[in-house]
Amino acid sequence: MGSELNRYLVRPERWEALPADWDAVFGRSAPLAVEIGFGSGEFLSWAAREHPGWNWVGFETSLTCITKAGRKLAHWGAGNVRLALVDGQFALRELFPDESVARVYVHFPCPWPKARHAERRLVGPGFGQTLAAVLAPDGLFTLTTDVLWYAEDAAACLAEANPFRVTGPQPLVEEGPGTRYERKWRGQGRAIWQVVAERKVKGAIQRIAEGTMPHVRIAVPVTPETVARAVGLREAWPGGAFAVKEAFFAPDGKIALLRAFATDDDFQQHYFLAVVPDQAGAMVKLDGATVPFRTPAVKRSVAAVAAALEGR
Ligand SMILES: C[S@@+](CC[C@H](N)C(=O)[O-])C[C@H]1O[C@@H](n2cnc3c(N)ncnc32)[C@H](O)[C@@H]1O
Repeated sequence: MGSELNRYLVRPERWEALPADWDAVFGRSAPLAVEIGFGSGEFLSWAAREHPGWNWVGFETSLTCITKAGRKLAHWGAGNVRLALVDGQFALRELFPDESVARVYVHFPCPWPKARHAERRLVGPGFGQTLAAVLAPDGLFTLTTDVLWYAEDAAACLAEANPFRVTGPQPLVEEGPGTRYERKWRGQGRAIWQVVAERKVKGAIQRIAEGTMPHVRIAVPVTPETVARAVGLREAWPGGAFAVKEAFFAPDGKIALLRAFATDDDFQQHYFLAVVPDQAGAMVKLDGATVPFRTPAVKRSVAAVAAALEGR
């Protein structure tokens, strides 16, 4: 399965240029379609086969789902699909240039029904802003769900705050193979709802991830004792935070890895910072084994660790 998965899996967090050049990723120029939260990949696999002239990108936060979908794609030899283990809301904003995406699909997102969890819902004002920026003129967003209030909220949010022509929620008649969740809910007799939003006016967004790798050279020698001082370092500011949790040392005690968390709005990442001694002092940089997206919080953690090691 490893080689099958490698054929489809992309790691945008390692790319130097963001937003990405998807024509280069696919090796051809074609309209882009995106599915967020593809689950076991039933729709993605079916749609990519139905539309061989499109480039399809799927985002999931579950590695198990990526593996299952990769197996389906390999089964029929799909060449027009890429999968990424990245939060789809973040990915849609950071990885696609303005007006570059023809279709975005979401099937059966978790509705997060409790009011205190409302900000976890995928389709909200921030998502609408991103759609308005990255969808091509007349590009379409399609939401399918069994939760009518979620569909109504999504339709209202897209119609009110953003430049879309919205259709629905309307009942979805059975078509195509259906996703796993569609089959499950239809099997229980539930109605299935669809909302379609057509982009009419371009929106603006601010992207936060950059390709360049932050690093800081420090001019003082580092020891395990000075590196340990960075453990517990934390900062929080409006829209972001980071924390350095623990330190690990190579057997010779020289190269150190610091385990860190960073949050930019709702997007969380964990990764390692490396402290690598050199003749003049040391280099503080991101460790290559766990490359995060280079967001403001990640860059700030690198700078803060360097400052702490220098005793600033
Ligand atoms: C209820 S399942 C639906 C799966 C599939 N779409 C279907 O209809 O069978 C929701 C899926 O969305 C994925 N997911 C949740 N939040 C996500 C996000 N921010 N980005 C990408 N995938 C996400 C979950 O891992 C899960 O596989």
